[in-house]
Amino acid sequence: MAGQIPQRFIDDLLARVDVVEVVGERVKLKKAGRNHSGLCPFHQEKSPSFTVSADKQFYHCFGCGAHGNALRFLMEYDKLRFPEAVEQLASRMGMEVPREGADDPRAQAREKKRKEGVNLLEMSASYFRERLKMPEGKAAREYLEGRGLSDEVRETFGIGYAPAQWEALKRHLGSQGVDESVQIEYGLLVHHEDSGRSYDRFRDRVVFPIRDIRGRTLGFGGRVMGDAKPKYLNSPETPVFHKGRELYGLYEARQANHRLERLLIVEGYMDVVALAQFGIRNAVATLGTATTADHLRRLFRLVSEVVFCFDGDKAGRQAAARALETVLPEMIDGRQARFLFLPEGEDPDSLVRKEGTEAFEDRVTCASPLSEFLFEHAAQGRDLAQLESRERYASQVLAAIEKLPQGVLKSLMLTELSRRTGVEQSRFEALLAPAPEDNDVAPVDEFFEPVVEDGEPAPRPRRSGGALGLMARTLQLLVHEPRLVERLPESLDWCGGQDEDARLCREVITLLRAGGYSSAQVLLMHFHGSEDGERLAALARRELLIPVAARAAELDGLVSYFQRASQTPSRQEEIDALLRRQQSGERLSSEERGRLMELLAAGR
Ligand code: CTP
Ligand code: MN
Repeated sequence: MAGQIPQRFIDDLLARVDVVEVVGERVKLKKAGRNHSGLCPFHQEKSPSFTVSADKQFYHCFGCGAHGNALRFLMEYDKLRFPEAVEQLASRMGMEVPREGADDPRAQAREKKRKEGVNLLEMSASYFRERLKMPEGKAAREYLEGRGLSDEVRETFGIGYAPAQWEALKRHLGSQGVDESVQIEYGLLVHHEDSGRSYDRFRDRVVFPIRDIRGRTLGFGGRVMGDAKPKYLNSPETPVFHKGRELYGLYEARQANHRLERLLIVEGYMDVVALAQFGIRNAVATLGTATTADHLRRLFRLVSEVVFCFDGDKAGRQAAARALETVLPEMIDGRQARFLFLPEGEDPDSLVRKEGTEAFEDRVTCASPLSEFLFEHAAQGRDLAQLESRERYASQVLAAIEKLPQGVLKSLMLTELSRRTGVEQSRFEALLAPAPEDNDVAPVDEFFEPVVEDGEPAPRPRRSGGALGLMARTLQLLVHEPRLVERLPESLDWCGGQDEDARLCREVITLLRAGGYSSAQVLLMHFHGSEDGERLAALARRELLIPVAARAAELDGLVSYFQRASQTPSRQEEIDALLRRQQSGERLSSEERGRLMELLAAGR
């Protein structure tokens, strides 16, 4: 594993890079006085509130509060992890990124190999693309045309053709000086141990390159044009290709729209390209596997909403139930998941052709939210008029709720379960396992994530007890986006609690209001050196994990949750409490008895 990047290198890099240039390559900027301004790439807007300062080497959006330096911009805009952003900036300055302890020759050899592999896959992709244009690609071109794909979509997705020969690619790569062993390692050749022979894996197939988010080819999927089996063939696991992590179409979706808010998860390559053909350019496919937690984390780094598409048949229902299990632990506040069931016998490809773009989009719009699907799924095949069925129904829903991270959604689901079953919410709460420790904050070096061999981030270890409490999450949102303070209600009753986070939250809000600060740095400076400062810095280092556009909505949700929670007990609760005491034999005072009569009378 590569070592960490020394801080002095990062400082040096930032001193040489010009943020105006970096941003200017991606956002249209106009000079406005000392600064540059343009339309903010992190939220939808019609008039520019996004400014970039050459003096301060910072960008800042007065609309959504996005701000930071050149590195931060690359991380947010190109969705890069920290080390990747450093690599990118460094390479444009012609600088080599040093790694602490990276003199390790084995690490160097691995890195060299990774580069070699990616290069080799790129060469293969362009070879396949060229073959498609040749006379030998005629049948493949006709096949694609027959499936309604235009040249434009074909090119966008880099679709190619693998010739009907045993050693076409092998010879081509060989002539470019690529070792046979490397071709085998990257899944391009099939190797027979016994005979020692190797030959092209993809033969006489339409080939779809599978790319990472930066557009580098990692592997391929190939479809036969006739009825031969298997219908689809994928690259095997290689040093760069991992089925459980990659999503087909993600790069292309990002290219089509950098401000994606929602992604559809479909089953097949053809579904992704057919939807794109019909102008729906935000679909991705898993590669013949169920959706994994890794997939979801990737998607939720980019968008706040995912919509799963399933067949309406039994297999589709089962797949949906599996997806539900996988997505539950990922549902931190601000994220949304929905479930779309297609009519039986249809997939997105066939349906969009039959019904057209608008009808398909309407279906997506009407897809069931996770909560609805969860209740519906648990109710299936049960007669809820029966006590025993109701009990099993409640246990099933509760087991699902238990998997949700702490947050508003979890609370709302409990309330809803209580409403649907007529059982008091507190009874369900008591059945839930105690909430994980709240104050756990990621270690300092979390920001500098290790880079694994293929240059992609290592899968995040699941932090035990990593969920933040709701008040901590509120604080975290404010630290990352101080400008959000403007949305908060005038009164601070909602954070009137006595715990440390509530107290700190009040202080932060008061300070932000008084100072009109909009930068996290200033906020952190103010608290620097104190325990509160450390708490805030830790929250600042911890990623928000949701896109900029979803942050305001999440804060609103949290605040209204706290507002509800801080209201005085409801009439019913007060009655219950008084009755309970009376029934347990306690004598109520005359005022209390009066109050009880009053409450009971008010209900009639
Ligand atoms: N798949 C696979 N291996 C197979 C069959 C399917 O990896 N032998 C994966 C592919 O990613 C494929 C997806 O599962 O895209 C869906 O398969 P299927 O429903 O059989 O095909 P469609 O996507 O409908 O493909 P087509 O429309 O081309 O028949
Ligand atoms: Mn299909």
